[in-house]
Amino acid sequence: MLPCCAVRTCHVLVLVLCLSAAEDFDWTKNDRGSFYYGTFPAGFSWGAGSSAYQTEGAWDQDGKGLSIWDVFSHRKGKILQNDTGDSSCQGYYKIKEDISLMKELKLDHYRFSISWPRIMPTGIKVRQQKNKHTLSIAPTDHVNEKGIKYYDELIDNLLENKITPIATLYHWDLPQVLQEKYGGWQNISMVNYFNEFANLCFERFGNRVKYWITLNNPWSVAVEGYETGEHAPGLKLRGTGAYRAAHHMIKAHAKVWHTYDTKWRGQQKGLVGISLSGDWGEPVDISNQKDIEAAERYVQFYIGWFATPIFHGDYPQVMKDFIGRKSAQQGLGTSRLPTFSSQEKSYVKGTCDFLGIGHFTTRYITQKNYQSGHGSSSYFTDRDLAELVDPRWPDPGSEWLYSVPWGFRRLLNFAQYRNPMIYVTENGVSEKITCTELCDDWRIQYYKDYTNEMLKAIKDGVNVRGYTAWSLLDKFEWDEGYSERFGLYYVDFRNKNKPRYPKASVQYYKRIISSNGFPNQREVENWKRKATETCSSSNQLLAADPLTSHMEMVTEVVVPTVCTLCILLSAVFLMFLLRRHN
Ligand code: NOJ
Repeated sequence: MLPCCAVRTCHVLVLVLCLSAAEDFDWTKNDRGSFYYGTFPAGFSWGAGSSAYQTEGAWDQDGKGLSIWDVFSHRKGKILQNDTGDSSCQGYYKIKEDISLMKELKLDHYRFSISWPRIMPTGIKVRQQKNKHTLSIAPTDHVNEKGIKYYDELIDNLLENKITPIATLYHWDLPQVLQEKYGGWQNISMVNYFNEFANLCFERFGNRVKYWITLNNPWSVAVEGYETGEHAPGLKLRGTGAYRAAHHMIKAHAKVWHTYDTKWRGQQKGLVGISLSGDWGEPVDISNQKDIEAAERYVQFYIGWFATPIFHGDYPQVMKDFIGRKSAQQGLGTSRLPTFSSQEKSYVKGTCDFLGIGHFTTRYITQKNYQSGHGSSSYFTDRDLAELVDPRWPDPGSEWLYSVPWGFRRLLNFAQYRNPMIYVTENGVSEKITCTELCDDWRIQYYKDYTNEMLKAIKDGVNVRGYTAWSLLDKFEWDEGYSERFGLYYVDFRNKNKPRYPKASVQYYKRIISSNGFPNQREVENWKRKATETCSSSNQLLAADPLTSHMEMVTEVVVPTVCTLCILLSAVFLMFLLRRHN
């Protein structure tokens, strides 16, 4: 029998282990502090990222099938200026060129995603069709070896250059066939289809890829794909669609983790995680309990929605309470938030070897009640809160993206689900297309401050192992088309060769990487000066506007020609004068 004090210690231990991130988090402690000079732990991994649909182009080449984004972007009025990812950065044809950019930065890792319909055109590996007498295989369901070859080359080239590949299995480009036949993530069958696709990736690439991300930002897929319809597949199933899609994605993630764990981990020895994106929510009034609760709901409805089941086996209590209550008020017999059976809870719980965090911005949050009437329910009104921003926060690019570095430290401290190993899978800032500055000092400032807050979080005890700047290149920015540029490298989309040009932030990020942090004030200030100095005016001209080529013509052809003519004319005139004189 255990002595009484041991039992008590056990209870305390169990209680501590059961605490979810929010219960551990001290909302009242917001130490904003000053800039912290110091370095990251040895072996910290620095990287940059991209995703297939946003950069590859080659949308219909070499046997690739259609994805929901191919179809969605071709519908008029869905994407700003009706842009599409048809050719995007032409990354499909530029493996070597892009790796040389990564080498210039001295990246430790590169995060990319594998396009499901590029390697499985219908999303289905082999479909057995039953007719009365025979079993036949539909010719369209197959593995596309040309697609496999592309990723083989990418991975091999990365490894040859000592850059660790981090592969995302799903960065939003679901095969269109699966959408049309089953309704995409609304249908539970996606769990098995996704698992088959993931299994194929482990089989073909797992001898070389050791870091796998199952899903990228499932929040966005659920809310923007199935609730607001701003993203593919463009469904507006308010109040239910997002919750159902998320439920199936969580199960799909868990299944893929189990597949890796039981079938591949032994020989391949890799890790499988998920990438969750979330804004930070700060209470408007830190001394007001209602604001604190509202801010907590904001974060729980963001990353908690996915992280809590994956780390603790079920949805955050606050989501169950709020959505359950509002569903009852609407007269529904069951909650709009699906439930996990106890078997499912234990299957889903603990299915994460590392937690990927994508983070860009912060909001102030206050309590705001929404009445739930028939038909008026939505993910947004379920949360009972209002979002505010501080007008002094810089917002250089995307409408939603305010630079609030301290929010990053807060989020990382909040995400303490059993002290997971964390990789920052996305962090960065955009600029408007009208601004073609290669001297992106605001991006330098953003990276400097956000990575510094990450360093502070590590000092706080958060186990952050790597950081991925988002993104390597300017690229297709979903419903915003090419109007927002997140790249460290500028891409000239008007030129069909899609040339890349380094922005000043390349020089700056490179220095953070080579120093593994921020050595001292003098040096760090020097970095900025040097980075903006090297961002030469000729570089700017190359990227600036369509007049550039005319200006180049003027400087390279017209000016020398006119000068030569002047010299010739002067010589002739001089000779004429001399003759007359003689
Ligand atoms: C998160 C998405 O995962 C990524 O694809 C996108 O570029 C960034 N948000 C910026 O909007």
